[in-house]
Amino acid sequence: MIKVGVVGASGYTGLELVKMLISHGGFELTYLATTQGDTRVEELHPSLENIISLSVEKADVDEVAKRCELVFLALPHKASMGFAKDILDKGIKVVDLSADYRLELDTYEANYCPHEDKGHLDNSVYGLIEYYKEELKSTNLVASPGCYPTATLLGILPFIPYLDEKSPLFIDAKSGLSGAGKKLSENAHYVNMNDNIFAYNPLKHRHAPEIAEKIEKLYNVKMNVNFVPHLIPATRGELVSVYGVLKDDIDPLSVLKEHYKDDPFIRIRETPVDIKSTAGTHFCDIFAAKNGNALFVSSAIDNLLRGASSQALAAANIMCGYDEGMGLPVIPYMP
Ligand SMILES: NC(=O)c1ccc[n+]([C@@H]2O[C@H](COP(=O)([O-])OP(=O)(O)OC[C@H]3O[C@@H](n4cnc5c(N)ncnc54)[C@H](OP(=O)(O)O)[C@@H]3O)[C@@H](O)[C@H]2O)c1
Repeated sequence: MIKVGVVGASGYTGLELVKMLISHGGFELTYLATTQGDTRVEELHPSLENIISLSVEKADVDEVAKRCELVFLALPHKASMGFAKDILDKGIKVVDLSADYRLELDTYEANYCPHEDKGHLDNSVYGLIEYYKEELKSTNLVASPGCYPTATLLGILPFIPYLDEKSPLFIDAKSGLSGAGKKLSENAHYVNMNDNIFAYNPLKHRHAPEIAEKIEKLYNVKMNVNFVPHLIPATRGELVSVYGVLKDDIDPLSVLKEHYKDDPFIRIRETPVDIKSTAGTHFCDIFAAKNGNALFVSSAIDNLLRGASSQALAAANIMCGYDEGMGLPVIPYMP
């Protein structure tokens, strides 16, 4: 068993990691931490009472190094790189769920803050599993993708060679509220969210440059990415609809089926996808259709799992030589 820890165990993605790691066949959960520590996991998350009992400590790099071979950082950006750089120097593998190691330096600094660990940034592997499997096998640092970029990229990447690159790409994304983490905000008030839906940061959200950068890296084309996220009154789940202009006459579903024929966690659907069918799972469901040269691609994921924690676990599996799917949840929360 490989000893692993979770820093950020009180957060939403931290909880999802703990839930999967409890019963993982190859990882043993040996370390949990938060900002303050001095508690137990079943106190932080009473839903885990009688299931697991582990102390939660104040996050400390030396303790991570003593007790873990791999650590998941489920922390806000900036806090993450503060831990990662010292942990990596001690030879521990890191899977970071924040934005800190996802982007090129100039893209990161233009959208987040000055980077404090430029030394390791160049060695990180972007953890979009289906596209970086080989690189994941030999890295010590995984930058787990953002939830919106995960759903968007998995949907649109197979079509990039067939798209008119001069036409803008429009991405209409809808997310449940857990995508914003556990911190309260004005938007998160019940009266704002209930019976409601609204766009936020239209055309200015920080996930747009992540999407554009990865398209360019993988296909060497610069697309005009226009990203509009919305909040919906759901706890979890993300539905992303992408609209593009085709330059070639293709059958969209055939393209998807061929592209993902060896990827067990991508499900190509014959009818439009929904968030509930993927909630609680690592699946990404994708549907596509066209009208002449107008392309519609729609993908659904659980933002806390495929958009964060199960994708991070899949990356850790591959980094450690385990089967990609080990311990990943596959039964949706239906009905
Ligand atoms: N939520 C999603 O759907 C989603 C999807 C993809 C990626 N992500 C990314 O994953 C990361 C975690 O997201 P989340 O939604 O789980 O956030 P969250 O619910 O706000 O949890 C953040 C966690 O970080 C801990 N923390 C904050 N600063 C810390 C520090 N300096 N030292 C130690 N612990 C610290 C918090 O501990 P305390 O309780 O002690 O403050 C808490 O456990 C973020 O970078 C987020 O952008 C989230």
